[in-house]
Amino acid sequence: MCPICALLLLLAALVALVYIFLTWNFSYWKKRGIKSAKAWPFVGSFPSVFTQKRNMAYDIDDIYRQYKDTDRVVGVFNTRVPQLMILCPEYAHKIFVGEFRSFHDNEFGKFANKKVDQILANNPFVLMGEEWKERRAEITPGLSANRVKAVYPVSQSVCKAFVDYIKRQQRMATADGNNAKDLCLCYTTEVVSDCVLGISAQSFTDTPTPLVGMIKRVFEQSFGFIFYTMAANLWPPIRKLYSVALFAKDVEQFFFDIMEKSIVLRRENPKQQRDDFLNYMLQLQDKKGLNTVELTSHTMTFLTDGFETTALVLAHTLLLLGRYPADQQKVRDEIGQGDLTFEQLSELPYIDACIHETLRIFTPLLSARKLVTQAHDFVNKNGVTVRVQPGDVVIIPANSMHHDPEYYEEPEAFKPERFLEVNGGVRKYREAGVYYGFGDGPRVCPGMRFALTQLKAALVEIVQNFEIKVNPKTRTDNELDDTYFMATLKGGIWLDFETRK
Ligand code: HEM
Ligand SMILES: *[C@@H]1O[C@H](CO)[C@@H](O)[C@H](O)[C@H]1NC(C)=O
Repeated sequence: MCPICALLLLLAALVALVYIFLTWNFSYWKKRGIKSAKAWPFVGSFPSVFTQKRNMAYDIDDIYRQYKDTDRVVGVFNTRVPQLMILCPEYAHKIFVGEFRSFHDNEFGKFANKKVDQILANNPFVLMGEEWKERRAEITPGLSANRVKAVYPVSQSVCKAFVDYIKRQQRMATADGNNAKDLCLCYTTEVVSDCVLGISAQSFTDTPTPLVGMIKRVFEQSFGFIFYTMAANLWPPIRKLYSVALFAKDVEQFFFDIMEKSIVLRRENPKQQRDDFLNYMLQLQDKKGLNTVELTSHTMTFLTDGFETTALVLAHTLLLLGRYPADQQKVRDEIGQGDLTFEQLSELPYIDACIHETLRIFTPLLSARKLVTQAHDFVNKNGVTVRVQPGDVVIIPANSMHHDPEYYEEPEAFKPERFLEVNGGVRKYREAGVYYGFGDGPRVCPGMRFALTQLKAALVEIVQNFEIKVNPKTRTDNELDDTYFMATLKGGIWLDFETRK
C-alpha cells in the first residue's frame, strides 16, 4: 500500500472512531423506553451553543413543544452525555421542592474549581451537599428583612441620585435614546456597593471608580466558561488537566482588594457601624474564625449575584412598562406622590405583579440543570418507568413553561393582573410548578427580598419622575439575545425618559 493511502485509511479509521465515541450513547434513552430528541454528533441536542445563531433556550423550547403533549420526560444529549428533560410541571415542582433530596445540587457545581475560581466556587449556587447546607445557612440571615430594612435609607438616597443621573443622560442622549441596561447597571452597582460595602462607586458621575468597569466585566467571560463546560461533558478528565475560571483573574483580584479595604475601614471605624451585610459578615468571621479569603469570597456572593440579575430585571421591567403605558399609569396611581416607608414599599401589589410578570417573560434562569443525588423514578405517560441515577442531570425548561399558552394565556403579552392576589397570586403558579422567577424550594433565591426592595425603590422614583417611552431602536417582540446565558432582549433595550411636571 502506498504511504498516502495508508495515511488516508488511518485518518478514516480515526474519524470513524471519533464518530462512534460521539454518538455511542445516542441510543441510551431508546433502550430505556423513552423518546430521544434529535441529536447531532459533537453538538448533541443543543447546536445553538456552538453555532451561536440563536439562544440555546430556543433549542430547548423546540424540544419542549414537540414532546410535551405526548411525554412527561424526554431524553436529550448534552454533547454526548444523556440527560433527561422534564416536560410536566408536576415533576418540575417535585425536583425543586418535594423530592429536593434526590435533586440537591446544580450541575454547574461540577465545573467550578475552587483553586482557579475563588469567587464562584464559594457561591451557594455551585456548592454541593453538606458544604452547600452550611454556606447557605450562613448567608441567609445576612439577607433577612431587618437587614434589608436597615439599608433601605441608603437605597432611597441612591435612587434620588439615579433620577438626577437619568435626567442628565436623557439630555445628552442621541436619537437612539438611553441604553437601559447600562443605566440600570450603574444603579445596582451603586446600591450594592453602598449597601454591602458602605462605599460609593461614584457610578453617577463622569469619573466613576474602576468598580463600575470591573462589574461590567464580571460576566464577560461567561461564553468561554460555557464552552469549557461543554468540553468537560465531551471528555470529563479534562477537568483534572485544565480549568477555566468564570471570572478573569484581574477582576477577581480587584474585588479581593476592594473587599479587604472595606473590611479594614469598617474595623477601624466602629462608629460607622450599621446593621448591613458587611457588619453581618464581620460578626460571622469572629464567630467562625473565617480567614480573609473566606470572608471575602462569601461577601463577594452578595456582589456578583446582586448587580447583574437585578439590573437586567429592572431594565426589562422598564421596557415592559414603556410598552404598556396603561400599566405604567396603574403603577403611578398605586405609589402616589412622595417618599414611601419601607413598610409601604413592601405593600405594592401591582408593582409586585409587574415585576413577576417581567420575570416570567424574561426569566434570568432560562433553564435549571439539577444534578441527581439519589436514584429517582419518573413514569412517562405511556406507563414506562425510567430511573435516573446519582450523577445524571435533569433539565427543567423554565423559560418554555413560562411561555406555554396552556399555563399563561397570551404568553407573549405583558399582563401583570395574572399575578394579583385576587387571581391566586404568584403562589398559585409556583405551586402548579410553572413559575420559576426566583427558583423554588430549599435553594430558592436567598436574595429575593433584597432584590425586590431594590427593584421597587428604583421603580417608585422613576415612575414618579418620568414618563417611560420605548425608543424605536428597540425591537417590539420578546426575542432573546443569541448568546447571553440569562434572558435579555436581542438588540438591547433603548428607552427615553420624559420628565413629568
Ligand atoms: C431580581 C434579581 C434576582 C433574580 C431574578 C434571582 C433569581 C435566582 C434564581 C432563579 C436562582 C436559582 C434558584 C433555584 O435553583 O431554585 C437564584 C439563586 C441564588 N441567588 Fe438570586 N436572583 C436575584 C437576585 C439575587 C441577589 C440580589 C442575591 C444576593 C444578594 C442573590 C443570591 C442568590 C444566591 C446565593 C443563589 C444560590 C442559592 C442556592 O443555590 O442555595 N440573588 N437566584
Ligand atoms: C452512556 O451514558 C451513561 C449515563 O450517563 C454512562 O453511565 C455511560 O458510561 C455512557 N457510556 C459511554 C460509552 O459513554
